[in-house]
Amino acid sequence: MNKNSIKVEKLSKNFVNNKVVVNVLNNLNFNLETGKIIALVGPSGSGKSTLLHLLALLDKPTDGKITIFGEPTQNITENKRNQLIRNHISIIFQNNNLLLDFTAVENVAMPLIIRNKNYNSSIKEAESYLKKVNLGHRLDHFPSDLSGGEQQRVAIARSLISDTKIILADEPTGNLDNKNSSEVLSYFLKLKQKNKIVLIATHNREIAKKADYTLSIRDGIIKTSNGK
Ligand SMILES: Nc1ncnc2c1ncn2[C@@H]1O[C@H](COP(=O)(O)OP(=O)(O)O)[C@@H](O)[C@H]1O
Ligand SMILES: [Mg+2]
Repeated sequence: MNKNSIKVEKLSKNFVNNKVVVNVLNNLNFNLETGKIIALVGPSGSGKSTLLHLLALLDKPTDGKITIFGEPTQNITENKRNQLIRNHISIIFQNNNLLLDFTAVENVAMPLIIRNKNYNSSIKEAESYLKKVNLGHRLDHFPSDLSGGEQQRVAIARSLISDTKIILADEPTGNLDNKNSSEVLSYFLKLKQKNKIVLIATHNREIAKKADYTLSIRDGIIKTSNGK
C-alpha cells in the first residue's frame, strides 16, 4: 500500500435528478502521487467538481474506493473522516469561500485557530503566509476590499498554512484575468516543490501545460495524457 498516494479504484458517482439517474463518474481508476501537479480537465458538467468533492471526502461515492496515504476512506466513522480531512486535505473553491466578516489575516489563521492553536501566534503565522503570496500589505483588508486575484491568493495562503499534503483546487483561476491567473499558478508550482499532491480542475491552458500531466474526464470516463 503506497503511503504517498491517493489511490482511486472503480470509483463511480450517480446523482438522481427528477427521478432520472445520472451517471457522472463511471468506474474511474487512477493514482495521484506526491510531488506532482495534475490538471483535471473536461467540459463543463463532466464531473470535475464532483470528483474533487469525493477526493476531499465531502461527498460519498456511489461505488468504489478512495485510499488516502494507505488509509481506506469507505465505511469510516465521521470522526475518522474529519481527522483525515484535517490532517491531509485542503480544498480551494472557485469562489474561494473566504469568510466575509473576517480580515485576510484572520481568514488565513482560521485553520490554526480551529485546531486550538494560540490566537496571537496563529495570526503571526498567518501574516508570514500572506507575505509569501505577496499580500503583506493587505493583512487587515476584508475580502470585499480585495481583488479577485488577491482573494484567491488569500485562499491559497489559507490552504498553505494547514500544510496538508493534498491540495485540491476547483477552477482557482476561473474568475481571474491572465495576470492574476499566472500569479496564482506560480504559487501552485511552488507547492509542488513541497512534495504535495496538487490537483487543479481547470480550463486554463497555461496550467494544463505546466502540470506534470493531465487527467481528462469525458462521458464519465477518465484518461491520462502527456503523463510523465
Ligand atoms: N448535488 C447534485 N445533485 C444532482 N446532480 C448533480 C449534483 N452535483 C452535480 N450534479 C450533476 O453532475 C454533473 C457534473 O457536475 P460537476 O461535477 O459540477 O461538473 P464540472 O465541475 O465538470 O462542471 C452535472 O450534470 C451536474 O448537473
Ligand atoms: Mg465544476
